[in-house]
Amino acid sequence: MATDRLFSRAMAAFVVTSFFPLLCSSAQARGMNYTFVKDAARAPDVSYYDYIVIGGGTAGCPLSATLSERFRVLLLERGGSPYDDERIGDMTRFADTLSDTSAGSPAQRFVSEDGVINSRPRVLGGGSCINAGFYTRAADDYVRGVGWDLGKATAAYRWVEDVVAFQPEVGPWQAALQQGLLESGVAPDNGFTYDHIEGTKVGGSIFDADGRRHTAADLLRYARADGLDVLLRARVAKILFNVRGNRRPVARGVVFHDSAGRMHKAYLNAGHGNEIILSAGAMGSPQLLMLSGVGPADHLSSFGITLVRDQPAVGQGMYDNPMNAIYVPSPTPVEVSLIQRRQLGRPAHGLQQRRRRSQAAPQLRHVRIRGSCHDHASHMQLCKCAVPYKVTVLSTRLCCVPEQTGQLATVPPKQRTPEAIARAAEAMSQLNDTAFRGGFILEKIIGPLSTGHLRLRNRNPDDNPAVTFNYFSHPEDLRRCVAGLSVIERVIQSRAFENFTYSDFSVEMLLNMTASYPVNLLPRHDNDSKSLEQYCKDTVMTIWHYHGGCHVGRVVDTEYRVLGVDALRVIDGSTFNASPGTNPQATVMMLGRYMGVKIQSERLKAAGLGRKKLIAGDPYEGFKLSATLQFSVVPAAKMQATLQKRFWYMMNKSIISSVMYLQRRCNKDKLLEPRNSY
Ligand SMILES: Cc1cc2nc3c(=O)[nH]c(=O)nc-3n(C[C@H](O)[C@H](O)[C@H](O)COP(=O)(O)OP(=O)(O)OC[C@H]3O[C@@H](n4cnc5c(N)ncnc54)[C@H](O)[C@@H]3O)c2cc1C
Ligand SMILES: *[C@@H]1O[C@H](CO)[C@@H](O)[C@H](O)[C@H]1NC(C)=O
Ligand SMILES: *[C@@H]1O[C@H](CO)[C@@H](O)[C@H](O)[C@H]1NC(C)=O
Ligand SMILES: *[C@@H]1O[C@H](CO)[C@@H](O)[C@H](O)[C@H]1NC(C)=O
Ligand SMILES: *[C@@H]1O[C@H](CO)[C@@H](O)[C@H](O)[C@H]1NC(C)=O
Ligand SMILES: *[C@@H]1O[C@H](CO)[C@@H](O)[C@H](O)[C@H]1NC(C)=O
Ligand SMILES: *[C@@H]1O[C@H](CO)[C@@H](O)[C@H](O)[C@H]1NC(C)=O
Repeated sequence: MATDRLFSRAMAAFVVTSFFPLLCSSAQARGMNYTFVKDAARAPDVSYYDYIVIGGGTAGCPLSATLSERFRVLLLERGGSPYDDERIGDMTRFADTLSDTSAGSPAQRFVSEDGVINSRPRVLGGGSCINAGFYTRAADDYVRGVGWDLGKATAAYRWVEDVVAFQPEVGPWQAALQQGLLESGVAPDNGFTYDHIEGTKVGGSIFDADGRRHTAADLLRYARADGLDVLLRARVAKILFNVRGNRRPVARGVVFHDSAGRMHKAYLNAGHGNEIILSAGAMGSPQLLMLSGVGPADHLSSFGITLVRDQPAVGQGMYDNPMNAIYVPSPTPVEVSLIQRRQLGRPAHGLQQRRRRSQAAPQLRHVRIRGSCHDHASHMQLCKCAVPYKVTVLSTRLCCVPEQTGQLATVPPKQRTPEAIARAAEAMSQLNDTAFRGGFILEKIIGPLSTGHLRLRNRNPDDNPAVTFNYFSHPEDLRRCVAGLSVIERVIQSRAFENFTYSDFSVEMLLNMTASYPVNLLPRHDNDSKSLEQYCKDTVMTIWHYHGGCHVGRVVDTEYRVLGVDALRVIDGSTFNASPGTNPQATVMMLGRYMGVKIQSERLKAAGLGRKKLIAGDPYEGFKLSATLQFSVVPAAKMQATLQKRFWYMMNKSIISSVMYLQRRCNKDKLLEPRNSY
């Protein structure tokens, strides 16, 4: 059976990616110059379109570009243009974007009710503008399981890849890590591919060889300029419905506000088949449905929202792949000649000697490694699933840390507020020659099986809703986390890794050290370095692949039409019940293209069949049926778990506290003097 094949087959992908960012030219940074993109303040008070797409994100851009080929499309995005923000185009400034908490930031920070710090995009291009760039397709079995046509999905992936995906170069450090993983049983090696396949591979990236980011906004180059209007800083407040008697509610327009707070309305043109499509992401789509009256009746009434359709499943089934890391201090700087993150000040006097001994200049190295392994060794639990790895190395020499920044790691967990972390980040950024060398090896649970929910906090669409992911509430997720950490331990202890570890650091010490970092707002326990279970729970972070809230079969049918209302679809990551390909963005972009093509061709076909037939009958019954069948084939609870270990550089605060920790140790006992001299 397809299901059996899907879940028993070893899903294995071993991915090594590296980036070689160079300083960009500002012309490149400005990028595309679309005639159809305007600020919402320039929009008329009322306008009419065939399609209104809410959210110019990872799915919304390819979807709108495609629909514009034959129809008049309005794309509403609450954020600004990625081409106006230098940080977005420049891979080395990834953390700058994420740590910008201002109202104009392309990243909107949120903290889940679990106490984990997270981020959501607010910019044309969506997540593809602020993410880590890793690009991989979903496995064929995933595509078939969801019910997408494999050939058409492949064509859609290619359409995306022609513009945004690149083959990364692989350096010696990645090779060492890859070797370490192979030694640890993660094999075989498949070379470079976008496919999510068994074995090891080098995956794609949306960063090109110059470290320049290419985003879903670049896919708008496919648009027919006369068919598309893109409005920036257009904050959609609600979807408007026609509600008459006992008839199904029909979506007919949207209300949005521009940056001056002025209200605008956009309506669908008269005519059967015109639609509003919600592509506001896993946080935005369920939130906007609720704000528009489609959601759990009691919850909506508690906010005084007029009910359009009682839909208890909206906001249910929120998943976030928990990620845990072990920090590994390394005596060996890595690929020092390749990346110069930024110009740092000259070292204070007195530091020269250490500097000569360690490295000539602070260097930054990011290495992304993902791996997975086979199901062949039944005694090894983790081999039931893919084991992707992500590892980051920031390679700079060690030096001094001012008093005021050396404290955060010892601040009691309850006081590790986002503000405290921001203060530490600020203090850290003031450092002359911040010194830090080592890497994080990460693992992430794919699936996952633990689920949560999203609720409104208030009626303001600009505010984050309250989301709970319930990390590790399912025991299987916890088991997988422990298995993933065990693989990391083996990699650290592998021969290939010998030059990147200190022999006198026990794994327990590494766990203890990492657990002291303020990566989340959760309390720590004394047994964190003794119990991997406790370590998993206490040091959980996100890898930002959260999804769900508008599941296929529960909120939308297999054609992504919202159940119970007409002329409204949701097409984005909120419809997923598992993160495809272990990293979703390729598949989110693919879905935008795929559905754009499908909607267009089905509409044209229907028009050919004659208007009469189109209007008669309820086109939804068939879809509902297939939705039901679909779901019995791939129940969420059976989604394959994958443990992932990937290169990690973004958690600014954990980087900061690792530096502080290393500094303290360094000052105390010179433990971190490299074994080899340079
Ligand atoms: C920091 C980070 C790193 C990541 N790293 C990777 C990676 O390396 N590889 C990978 O594959 N995936 C990665 N991801 C995940 C991936 O980027 C997302 O899963 C994907 O972008 C989600 O796409 P989407 O279309 O569902 O939503 P989004 O891309 O979030 O699009 C939603 C859009 O809707 C807009 N919007 C929301 N509400 C409104 C409103 N009320 N009015 C108007 N507009 C609105 C938002 O501004 C946004 O532009 C990462 C994500 C983040 C945040
Ligand atoms: C962008 O378009 C404007 C107006 O058409 C034009 O003046 C300008 O030169 C263009 N810029 C680039 C970088 O193409
Ligand atoms: C950086 O170093 C210079 C020279 O030693 C010193 O004057 C300056 O105060 C330092 N800056 C910070 C933020 O520590
Ligand atoms: C951390 O964040 C601060 C701003 O909060 C930024 O200035 C600094 O460059 C970041 N550091 C790293 C290593 O990303
Ligand atoms: C570690 O470094 C030593 C000395 O440079 C070298 O001989 C050895 O091959 C390295 N080990 C690995 C696994 O690369
Ligand atoms: C862990 O760190 C704490 C201080 O943060 C220390 O008291 C304890 O001895 C450490 N344990 C190990 C095993 O290193
Ligand atoms: C760790 O210790 C806490 C109490 O300090 C205890 O509640 C918890 O069960 C322990 N965890 C494990 C996995 O033993």
